[in-house]
Amino acid sequence: MADASELTKPHSENFRSVLGRLPTGVVVITGGDAKRPSGLVVGSFMSVSLEPPLVAVCVAKTSTSWPAIEAGGHFCANVLAQGQEALARQFAASGGDKFRGVSFSPAPASGAPLLERVAAWIDCRIYERYEAGDHWLVLGEVLELSGVGDGGALVFHSGSFRPLA
Ligand SMILES: Cc1cc2nc3c(=O)[nH]c(=O)nc-3n(C[C@H](O)[C@H](O)[C@H](O)COP(=O)(O)O)c2cc1C
Repeated sequence: MADASELTKPHSENFRSVLGRLPTGVVVITGGDAKRPSGLVVGSFMSVSLEPPLVAVCVAKTSTSWPAIEAGGHFCANVLAQGQEALARQFAASGGDKFRGVSFSPAPASGAPLLERVAAWIDCRIYERYEAGDHWLVLGEVLELSGVGDGGALVFHSGSFRPLA
């Protein structure tokens, strides 16, 4: 049997379950354009700085969508609204055509896909990328942003999507 203190060590299992107790927003990071759109779901999106206006996101080095997004030099962070769980699941699956049946328009500054009916969008230029273990820590400089709808966002907590009433 494992020593009791082992239970508090950061094994991949308890790292995930402990950190999963932190509720996060659900954000689709998109890049490319209408002809070649790319995107993935993240929970690691956050604001960083007001002057200059910076946000951050952590992307797994194994992401198959990120290289194309990075090559374009821009991304749009789409903050999902309550009721958009299906969209979240679609963008959490690696490979395939994630944009099938998804309505979007070009974000104003970058042209990256701005998804319909999101709670907010933040249109960014890639500002810096740092190595962070098995992820990239990416800073985006905010070019334009807007909150839309009634503000009801989708939340991810302990492995489940939940509406924020
Ligand atoms: C709620 C939720 C949050 C996630 N957060 C992240 C994240 O912060 N960074 C990340 O790289 N992947 C995250 N993922 C996993 C990616 O969405 C998933 O690996 C996806 O398949 C990557 O797609 P890609 O290979 O097309 O880039 C998250 C998934 C879910 C469901």
